[in-house]
Amino acid sequence: MSERTLILVKPDGVERGLVGDVLARIERKGYVLEQLSLVRATADQLAAHYAEHEGKPFYQPLVDFMSSGPIVALVASGDDVIRGFRVMAGVSDPTEAAPGTIRGDLSRDWGEKVQKNIVHGSDSVESAQREIAIWFPTGA
Ligand code: RTP
Ligand code: MG
Repeated sequence: MSERTLILVKPDGVERGLVGDVLARIERKGYVLEQLSLVRATADQLAAHYAEHEGKPFYQPLVDFMSSGPIVALVASGDDVIRGFRVMAGVSDPTEAAPGTIRGDLSRDWGEKVQKNIVHGSDSVESAQREIAIWFPTGA
């Protein structure tokens, strides 16, 4: 069944000029862009988006990183796109992410308190619904 997922190009991806590369990969894979927006994340958006990580050692560095510059938020659709985009992104740790994945090809460890790994992708149907409402509150 066709699904929608919420994808973010994080500040490191925007700053390093990798938005086009990420969008091209999504399009070449065959997923459909439904919504696309260049924004600065508000404190409220980040608190909601990362609520599951509150209290973890990387939480404040993560919020600071995500506030450090503009991000691109988008909704992509397609059958099994939630799982499909997570496979395209690769695992969270850029050093472990496989070559061929977004994180494996485009990110590395910079020795900071938070991993800068270019993209976020929703991890379940419930997360996708919740996250789409955070980044596209007027409807997607
Ligand atoms: P995302 O939510 O961004 O798609 O990534 P994910 O599911 O692969 O990773 P998650 O466990 O949800 O962590 C969210 C983001 O926090 C940063 N992080 N850094 N120890 C660290 O340095 C560390 N741990 C997590 C990463 O940016 C990760 O994507
Ligand atoms: Mg996550």
